[in-house]
Amino acid sequence: MRIDILTLFPDMIKPMFEHSMLWRATHYDFLDVNIMDFREFSEDKRNSVDDTPYGGGAGMVLRIEPVINAIRSIENHENALKILMTPQGIPYHQERARTLSKNKHIIILCGHYEGYDERIRDYFDVEISIGDYVLTGGEIAAMVVVDSIVRLIPGVLSNEDSPKDDSFTNNLLEYPQYTRPRLFEGKSVPEILLSGHHENIRKWRLEESEKRTRQRRPDLYEKYLKNQEK
Ligand code: ADE
Repeated sequence: MRIDILTLFPDMIKPMFEHSMLWRATHYDFLDVNIMDFREFSEDKRNSVDDTPYGGGAGMVLRIEPVINAIRSIENHENALKILMTPQGIPYHQERARTLSKNKHIIILCGHYEGYDERIRDYFDVEISIGDYVLTGGEIAAMVVVDSIVRLIPGVLSNEDSPKDDSFTNNLLEYPQYTRPRLFEGKSVPEILLSGHHENIRKWRLEESEKRTRQRRPDLYEKYLKNQEK
């Protein structure tokens, strides 16, 4: 997969690819990432990327030319899925991460300032919000999306870390997990996990997932039940 990230703060994003799974993904060529400072595509003398809004009002608005020039400089940009990060976008969740992880090429724009020139929206396929709160810029939101997509690319996670039991797969939260020691300050590991009986363990885990989802996320549990009926 190739991901181009358009940002005014490349140094916020670069270190994210130097650690853990994102490092693995780029190091082993599952992911080709290109972080672009779109200020370099501004055509005026001051390299400006924002301007005052028509009609007046406080704050600055992101100008369209640097953004579109940056996109057009990307090879094969016509075939890439273009994502705009904004609190006005569609809510992000695991199912969207799964769908996005199947794309070969994604371009993501991180905004700053008060907002975008509305016409920028015409050049994007989807607008995504990571939650009902406003961040100072789209960088952190973009990295949430990138991280959640990249770990789903087959091969990025090792078999043991496989995403098939992740929370939200099938609308269930993940079951409780334990590791050594068997007893810690009077708290013991459930006997069944020590039994070696794989089928019983599988059933117990499913029941625990269901119980946890029902208690913590009744909205998700409703969806789970609906899917079961199908
Ligand atoms: N930019 C600022 N806030 C955001 C949010 N909640 N989601 C996506 N992009 C954003």
